[in-house]
Amino acid sequence: MADIEAPDRIESIGPEFFADPHAHYRRWREQGPVRRVRFPDGVIRWVILDYAAGRAALSDPRLHKDAAVNDALLSSKRGVPQSDPNALALLTNMLNTDPPGHTRLRKLVTRAFTPRRVAALGPRIEEITDALLDAMEGRGEVDLLHEFAEPLPITVICELLGVPLADRAEFQAWTRALVAVAGLEQDRARASEEMAAYLTQLVRAKREQPSTDLLRALATPADDGDILTDSELVGMAFLLLVAGHDTTVNLIANGTLALLRNPAQWQALRADPDAIPAAVEEFLRFDGPVNMSTIRHTAEPVTIAGTPIPAGEFVFVALAAANRDPERYPVPDALDPARDTGGHLAFGHGIHFCVGAPLARLEARIAFSALLSRFPNLRLSPAAETLAWHPSTLMHGLRELPVLL
Ligand code: HEM
Repeated sequence: MADIEAPDRIESIGPEFFADPHAHYRRWREQGPVRRVRFPDGVIRWVILDYAAGRAALSDPRLHKDAAVNDALLSSKRGVPQSDPNALALLTNMLNTDPPGHTRLRKLVTRAFTPRRVAALGPRIEEITDALLDAMEGRGEVDLLHEFAEPLPITVICELLGVPLADRAEFQAWTRALVAVAGLEQDRARASEEMAAYLTQLVRAKREQPSTDLLRALATPADDGDILTDSELVGMAFLLLVAGHDTTVNLIANGTLALLRNPAQWQALRADPDAIPAAVEEFLRFDGPVNMSTIRHTAEPVTIAGTPIPAGEFVFVALAAANRDPERYPVPDALDPARDTGGHLAFGHGIHFCVGAPLARLEARIAFSALLSRFPNLRLSPAAETLAWHPSTLMHGLRELPVLL
């Protein structure tokens, strides 16, 4: 019994975690801001739950992201040699790189992925949104996830990057297999091999054929002459495709779910569309797309919020937990579009702060504004009583969202 009460008891992530990570985080936080958790793959990692500690950790240079070290560390913890060079090549991207490599890659992407390029997408995002909503018109019940929340961002990211939309089912399956923390090794190996081959061919084509898309811009030299190598370009294409995929999908779906569970706020937002941008920030805080940050590791012993963490350990920031820290956001479990959401961590913080945040915000504002005006009486279907969620510790995303129009 004493063991159960011990403050350093290792909590495990079981199947019940994914439907309501917030309930788990609430319970864990009562025992302290930082704790060890056994992940579904059996590996024990550290999870930061508090806002202040989480924000500090996201910009703490003692928490490293180097993909090769992560990979080697993971194999040693699992007791199995890692033997997937394709997966490592894809994962060796900006998000898994420390400075000075990160600084260089980030500069190369931001000079191509400019605010102007994002703003120019607005009219096209509206067009795609309208076409998807047109297709729903006149029907009683639809799955808003598959008919709207998913196809909108996926179409946009494909058009932005210059990736054929027709190949979407394939790379969606590959990315799911690759980012699954507890995926099967053989699935992961096959997915990474196929995806690496696909992206290699794609970036070679971008080098040769002029076009106006982002990958082509990334395949050409910057003003100072610097240019991404083939493998860096493959890593960047992979990162943008994956990061631009399920994230915005979850923002639209989780945000719609939160609103439909609070019908008075749905009506309030209908009456005052100018409040949509602020509401989108509250959706990000309340039930953001990213559950835990991407992985970081310690190279030396560090102390975080009073908790000593040895060298060679994995650390995650539970963004969803930090965004519901009552110290930072009073009454955190209430959806309140009028609250001050300043400084929420849904897009991360520090040098790895989301490059796609302006695009995600633009898409979400357009999506909610169109949805509210086109289907003013939207409500959850009785089938939404029990919703299924993806069993991912990285993303918090629905498998379906049945609604009545
Ligand atoms: C990084 C969230 C959409 C591209 C991040 C990080 C978070 C995040 C939390 C930092 C992870 C960490 O530090 O561990 C989100 C959310 C989105 C979204 C919530 C949608 C609502 C997008 C889109 C794109 C994108 C649409 C691309 C078009 C990136 C990239 C990075 C990143 C490239 C890595 C930045 C770096 O390492 O410097 N995102 N993201 N994201 N995101 Fe997003």
